[in-house]
Amino acid sequence: MNVAHAEFVMSNAEVAKCPKSHLPEYAFIGRSNVGKSSLINMLCNRKGLAKTSSRPGKTQLINHFLINKKWHLVDLPGYGYARVSKTQKKVFQKFVTDYFLKRNELISAFLLIDIRHEPQPVDLDFFKWLGEHQIPFSIVFTKADKIKPGTIEKRIKNYFDELKKDWEELPPHFVTSASKGNGKEELLGYIQEINDSIKEN
Ligand code: GTP
Ligand code: MG
Repeated sequence: MNVAHAEFVMSNAEVAKCPKSHLPEYAFIGRSNVGKSSLINMLCNRKGLAKTSSRPGKTQLINHFLINKKWHLVDLPGYGYARVSKTQKKVFQKFVTDYFLKRNELISAFLLIDIRHEPQPVDLDFFKWLGEHQIPFSIVFTKADKIKPGTIEKRIKNYFDELKKDWEELPPHFVTSASKGNGKEELLGYIQEINDSIKEN
């Protein structure tokens, strides 16, 4: 699939105010600074579509993007950012968890993991939370350009060895680089397949 058309629809902090159009929707979630917004821009071939920053905590709201006028990509705030107040964290948790629990249009989440890092408790907790609430998700390893190509498989194996301690079945995974474009076809192809299967049913 090629993204021929991508437009920003709206930002908000309440799931009830999200678009009413009932289009299939895919959401990007993960630690602050993992590269959620950058990956959206890479998939859409548009540098400034989603706002990015080298400083964590850039995305603060639920952001909807309409893709090819047929489905939504959603950019969410990151978690695990130490420099926000406790009150802010609670507000964030509430509207992000509300989004996952109440947004009927959400087909699948993409949980982004920086390929350079060891499994972090905050991510493992989030996997667990998604699993407990039966929210389908895939893992997207980001920033693959930052490690030697030969070490990619080793990093993934290392990550999945940790996940296997808690999970019987492992989710699908993708390896991406927002700066080099890796993983674009695979991710968009995966979304396309799901969108096609929804249409058929
Ligand atoms: P929050 O909105 O704060 O939660 O962050 P985010 O997950 O949206 O991250 P964002 O896309 O803003 O990227 C954070 C930083 O990582 C920016 O400086 C990006 O340029 C950089 N970055 C993101 N993806 C990649 C990548 O694939 N490769 C490299 N080298 N840098 C990346
Ligand atoms: Mg962001």
